[in-house]
Amino acid sequence: MKIKDIRNFSVIAHIDHGKSTFSDRIIETCNGNFEANQDYQSQILDSMVLERERGITIKAQNVTLQYKSKTGKRYYFNLIDTPGHVDFSYEVSRSLSACEGVLLLVDSSQGVEAQTIAHCNMALDMKLPIIPILNKVDLPLSDPNRVIKEINELIPEKYLNKIMLCSSKTGFGIINIIEYLIKKIPSPHDFSFHPLKALIIDSWFDQYFGIVSLIRIKEGIIKIGDQIKIMSSNRSYKVEQLGIFTPKKIIKTKLTCGEIGWLICSMKDIKCALVGDTITTVNNPAIQSLPGFKRIIPKVYAGFFSSKTENYTFFRDALMKLSLNDSSFFYEPEQSNILGFGFRCGFLGLLHMEIVQERLKREYNLELIITTPTVMYQVRLKNNSILYLDNPSKLPEMNKIKEFREPIAKCMIVIPNEKYLGKIITLCSNKRGKQSNILYYGSQIELIYEIPMIEIMIDFFNCLKSVSKGYASLDYNLIGYKKSDIICLDILINSKKIDPLSLIIHRSNSLYHAKSLVSKIKSLIPSHQFEIVIQAAIGKKIIARSTIKQFRKNVIAKCYGGDVSRKKKLLEKQRYGKKKMKKIGNVSLPIEIFRSIFFIDKK
Ligand code: GTP
Repeated sequence: MKIKDIRNFSVIAHIDHGKSTFSDRIIETCNGNFEANQDYQSQILDSMVLERERGITIKAQNVTLQYKSKTGKRYYFNLIDTPGHVDFSYEVSRSLSACEGVLLLVDSSQGVEAQTIAHCNMALDMKLPIIPILNKVDLPLSDPNRVIKEINELIPEKYLNKIMLCSSKTGFGIINIIEYLIKKIPSPHDFSFHPLKALIIDSWFDQYFGIVSLIRIKEGIIKIGDQIKIMSSNRSYKVEQLGIFTPKKIIKTKLTCGEIGWLICSMKDIKCALVGDTITTVNNPAIQSLPGFKRIIPKVYAGFFSSKTENYTFFRDALMKLSLNDSSFFYEPEQSNILGFGFRCGFLGLLHMEIVQERLKREYNLELIITTPTVMYQVRLKNNSILYLDNPSKLPEMNKIKEFREPIAKCMIVIPNEKYLGKIITLCSNKRGKQSNILYYGSQIELIYEIPMIEIMIDFFNCLKSVSKGYASLDYNLIGYKKSDIICLDILINSKKIDPLSLIIHRSNSLYHAKSLVSKIKSLIPSHQFEIVIQAAIGKKIIARSTIKQFRKNVIAKCYGGDVSRKKKLLEKQRYGKKKMKKIGNVSLPIEIFRSIFFIDKK
């Protein structure tokens, strides 16, 4: 394989614009599919069952293809299918840095959306050539002229190539796109004689081989038997197996500059091969690692508890196995006075959390109780130390706290026209957002807001979809921390604090949340034989209260007629009994309380 015949490219798009279907068509058209044809399934690159079922790409995937062009020349393509969801934007950025060009796929019936802009800007920052492709032109609602206008305003002329049309469903336009990308996407630079620099695009756990990494050789060469080291940790390993995906696993003895393939080196822990890290050789190491590596930290935290306490060890093993495959998933033991032993888990976002929950349910048959998701707050104490807080139960006493700081996200909201603009602006200001810009791409409008991360995590996306009738799309990224008036809202049931229901929220939201929580809990707890008082409190101050009336047994039903003193005696006995019961009575809380309080719609 000559380096000038290699083309490495990524397909980027907003979620559901047809990336995986488009990749399938490219694979079908190229030689690589000859092998894949034997057991062909659609969405070849979405290999996880969950990915196929939900129609979403969760992990970046690569395939090496051979293509004989119209001129008769043979080319080698490395195609990377990237996740479209905002939770996985770091993976997208690393996939892009493994390429020399990108295919920007836009659904011609939808137009430019939030992730189209975010991913396109990422590619522009890396100065990669972009080939815009209008997909789904077979649909009656497809409007290529409108979308071409939007793309012209999105991409500066300098980086803009010819806008191609295609239908991934029918295969229309695919060959033209392939021929065009050969001309427009450059081959990798030849740095074969430099010391090895290989970029880790993705890593996963294989039960037979341990950690498998997808790598792009940026400089140098890697061979079986080489002693390599991971540059961020300085740990060294021996290369045991190398190869490429076509999409079948093909074993090779070496990977040279410009190639993308897999690497096995008897590594056991996925945290040793983090996405974006650089691999070099021990004997002839590179001086500098590749740019752009960062350790991704979870954005959302929640408590996971098993509904059956005897499952604890099994639950812990399940989490351990999941984390083997997912370096961005974090967990540590947590204890609650109500739910018992469980784990505090950290995720990249709510979709990531949903995926983990779903996998625990399917693969390990675990029914879980999940506490309200929260974000990581910074707490500056009076002794000037800084505490990172992801769990209300770890909150220090208020008199020790100097100030709270909360994470702020930059949000890009894209809407097709001005129709829903007013409602979206109202929603953003209700969520304590500050507008920083409005941009126009043809008729598409991009609103840029700074919104506290917790507001985005708690149902922002659903509210946005509902006020815009599903037309708005959202992308966000963490930009820093800001001082904020944060409080801890506790829920008390018959004066007993129910720790899994505590929330860390902004003071301006406290009354609303307190009232909604109290009324929701009231609707979920059945009547008992004694009165149940539900209270929401900030510290010692009660800000909302509700009572569930006792279930009253008619003790005098059997006394028809008869002496009034007999009835009085029975009622007195009942009153005494209830008093006693209230003291010893334990409210039985239905599990739904912890599940359905998850999200409270705000305004
Ligand atoms: P994520 O992996 O979640 O980012 O989605 P994706 O961008 O990979 O989209 P996917 O390929 O899963 O396609 C989304 C839906 O669009 C599927 O139902 C496809 O069948 C459909 N689709 C894709 N391309 C075309 C096309 O050219 N025409 C028509 N009519 N439908 C298409």
